[in-house]
Amino acid sequence: MKDVTLQNDQWSADNYNTHASFVPQLGNTILSMLNAQSHERILDVGCGSGELTNDLASQCAQVVGIDASPDMINKANRIRRYDNTTYHVVDGQAIPSWLTENQIPTFDAVFSNAALHWMKNDPEGVIKGMHKALKSGGRIAVEFGGFMNVGEVHTALIQALNRRGLDGKAYSPWFFPSDIHYRHLLEKHGFNVQQIDLIPRPTRLDTDVAGWIETFGFTFLNALPTDRDRQQMIQEIVEQLRPSYQREDGAWYVMYVRLRAVAIKT
Ligand SMILES: C[S@@+](CC[C@H](N)C(=O)[O-])C[C@H]1O[C@@H](n2cnc3c(N)ncnc32)[C@H](O)[C@@H]1O
Repeated sequence: MKDVTLQNDQWSADNYNTHASFVPQLGNTILSMLNAQSHERILDVGCGSGELTNDLASQCAQVVGIDASPDMINKANRIRRYDNTTYHVVDGQAIPSWLTENQIPTFDAVFSNAALHWMKNDPEGVIKGMHKALKSGGRIAVEFGGFMNVGEVHTALIQALNRRGLDGKAYSPWFFPSDIHYRHLLEKHGFNVQQIDLIPRPTRLDTDVAGWIETFGFTFLNALPTDRDRQQMIQEIVEQLRPSYQREDGAWYVMYVRLRAVAIKT
């Protein structure tokens, strides 16, 4: 099978598992909204290092996990728990050509947790891809960052680059749509939306904001030339956020806003 290889993989499965184990753990709500059935074949878009995909695989007949990061897919293969699961390095924005070139049969459902907001270049292409991947009457159950997600950290990263004479917003890798906008996109591309909500979720970090930025803020960090510059920017942001985001006992939180949607292919 032909896979797409991401140039310059900036994801680290080790960093992800150390600093963000809460991401797959908190994916259990959208997993239960998917309501996978034992006979179903399901596509997991942006499956990451495969923890949640293992849970999904225990509930259905077959799972195909795709992710643009070879490091994540390697880890997912290493921790795979069930024989009914296969993984491929595929850009979620290129699902139609992947399906056609590899003659992939259609799926009963598409699942995705905490991944679609990373596909900023072509969000509508992702929706078209999910639509094409489904059988008629098939469903999607997806959760990802919505409007205002991680707002203070996002703004702090942009402003830190602005202060250094760069166009900070141009380095943002994220697409955080409102429920209104995403409903419109889903309907435009042939989905009947059953449910769509924006859910604010104060989220306790495994480590701290520095670890969060090292794991997820790589496009901003890589705008700077040296490791010293990057560490300086991280420390600046940590001190900026400490008054609001660090609890009395030292634990760090970030305000996530999740967009959860279930929709049927019409
Ligand atoms: C926060 S992780 C979530 C992983 C997993 N779904 C989970 O719940 O643990 C986001 C994932 O999106 C993947 N990703 C980012 N851009 C992508 C793209 N264009 N196509 C496919 N996957 C992408 C990353 O490689 C990463 O594994």
